[in-house]
Amino acid sequence: MSEIVRFSVSVEDDLLEKFDRFCKEEQFATRSEAVRQLIRDTLTRRAWQSAERDVAGTLTLVYDHHRPQLRDQLMEVQHDNTDVIVSTLHAHLEHDLCLEVIILRGPAGRIQEIASRLSGLKGIFKGELVMASAQEH
Ligand code: NI
Repeated sequence: MSEIVRFSVSVEDDLLEKFDRFCKEEQFATRSEAVRQLIRDTLTRRAWQSAERDVAGTLTLVYDHHRPQLRDQLMEVQHDNTDVIVSTLHAHLEHDLCLEVIILRGPAGRIQEIASRLSGLKGIFKGELVMASAQEH
């Protein structure tokens, strides 16, 4: 278990005002909680830049399943990358609209590359990758 340490930060008053508004809107219990999360997010983002880093992520896709070949292409990319694709959840939203959430785990570089390939297919309305470190630090 890590030890909690205190440190002080100097910041412009108008920036702090904006930050407090952000904390309120995002419903952080305290400023400390918000700062901790922002630090973690930033460090995680930085870790992604190291392509070898082991990360876990979810890729959310919303797409038109009537689009020719799209379903085949989605399936093909996923079957070609079974070593990093852990699971896929599919929901039929409307007559021709589908939502897919793909769980990935592996080297950050591969995860980002596969996510970009899938999100870039024609007929994808939304593609958003969320990554978290799969290691403790
Ligand atoms: Ni569907």
